Amino acid sequence: MKEEFIKLITDKGARIGVIGLGYVGLPLLVEFARSGFNVTGFEVDEHKAAEINAGRSYIGDVVGSAVRELVHADRLRATTDFQYLKDCDAVIFCVPTPLRKTKEPDVSYILAAAEQIQKSLRRGQLIVLESTTYPGTTDEVLLPMFEEMGLKLDEDFLLAFSPERVDPGNPQFQTHNIPKVVGGCTQDSTEAASHLYSQIVNDVHSVSSARVAEAAKLLENTFRAVNIGMANEMARLCYALNIDTWEVIRAAATKPFGFMPFYPGPGIGGHCIPLDPHYLSWKARQHGFDSRFIGLAEEVNSRMPEHVVTLVVDGLNDERKSLKGSRVLLLGVAYKKDINDVRESPALSIIDRLRAKGADVRYHDPFVEEVRFDDAHTEGGGEALSSVELTDAELKAADCVVIVTDHSGIDYHHVTALAPLIVDTRIALNGDLRRASHARIIRL
Ligand SMILES: NC(=O)c1ccc[n+]([C@@H]2O[C@H](COP(=O)([O-])OP(=O)(O)OC[C@H]3O[C@@H](n4cnc5c(N)ncnc54)[C@H](O)[C@@H]3O)[C@@H](O)[C@H]2O)c1
Repeated sequence: MKEEFIKLITDKGARIGVIGLGYVGLPLLVEFARSGFNVTGFEVDEHKAAEINAGRSYIGDVVGSAVRELVHADRLRATTDFQYLKDCDAVIFCVPTPLRKTKEPDVSYILAAAEQIQKSLRRGQLIVLESTTYPGTTDEVLLPMFEEMGLKLDEDFLLAFSPERVDPGNPQFQTHNIPKVVGGCTQDSTEAASHLYSQIVNDVHSVSSARVAEAAKLLENTFRAVNIGMANEMARLCYALNIDTWEVIRAAATKPFGFMPFYPGPGIGGHCIPLDPHYLSWKARQHGFDSRFIGLAEEVNSRMPEHVVTLVVDGLNDERKSLKGSRVLLLGVAYKKDINDVRESPALSIIDRLRAKGADVRYHDPFVEEVRFDDAHTEGGGEALSSVELTDAELKAADCVVIVTDHSGIDYHHVTALAPLIVDTRIALNGDLRRASHARIIRL
């Protein structure tokens, strides 16, 4: 059936379904529609489906006008009715892959979506999983579910894994110019899925199996977690030695070979770097293997919020102030600049810790109106904290300003002119700003 499928794609006659319209799924859906396919997005969240059908985007990297045009042209629609999966020739799913409280993989979203696919699986379909997961998920979990329906791989349907590498908020690299790794359960599946992605991506890199593709994604993100861990450890060491970490990294990065700079920060956040390595270490444990780099990186990275609190305490101490009763203003709570995502953001842990020590904590984030805290973490339980306006009065009233996220739109010049003490965890303040600053600045 591979040849039929490939012809359908080449002729742009294939209908494409994307399950899970979040940071990964919505850009993908729009990209396929823009390249001439008829696409349907499947969501469990009725509000998201309604927003798309009304021609609006809720994802920063997808412009509303693009969705509107495609909806009006009748090429793109969203639904919560999974019966329409039957009409799709290719079904790609991009549902969340969080961790359980025990830090074990939670593949329940994958299973729920796969059950929907299972119900409507028919001859001629290609199914592709994009959610980050442990090596073996596609072969060991999905394939048996689909074969249970009496259909045969290659003869009746095709199955592949292709990891997503989207970097929300990155204007330079978007779906079309990020090379795509594709690995099928069979050679036919690899070829069909590679042909599908080549319609929207400049460079498709095929590998020999779904497992290789699954492992490649985990290597990429584990590589980042480990190297950020190294940079974070260096930052703590440099603080103890009274050396400027950033100057050290900049100097080392002048070496034109054999060194790649990674930078310290207040801790790792988002849906990928803090979680994905656990998918690999969990699979390793199943095989009696202890992945020590992953454990060490997690240990070092998870200590960074506490280190940030130490910098605040040290800064206040020099002013003869205690953290208890001091007013601390966080700039940014999103896990990285210029996006509104607070999942696993270190800012939440920093706020928790500052409050636990009696600080009066406020925050300003142009992208995040409100953050909510779990009952378990916050005294009083489950309340929301809202972003305050970055007024002169707010800056002057803060005993310490902590730059947790280096959003581009913040007037840092203004911040350095009015705040008395700044802890900069992101090197948001460049040399000129630091030299002209009225504030005392402590850098990570
Ligand atoms: N966000 C990133 O930067 C990024 C980058 C690379 C890979 N990934 C991976 O991609 C996957 C998706 O991540 P995301 O950031 O897009 O998540 P997300 O939470 O933004 O989006 C997931 C969407 O799936 C929907 N959903 C959940 N269960 C569903 C079901 N059974 N049927 C239909 N829809 C369902 C949710 O309502 C949500 O809208 C994860 O595995 C993640 O690790 C994410």
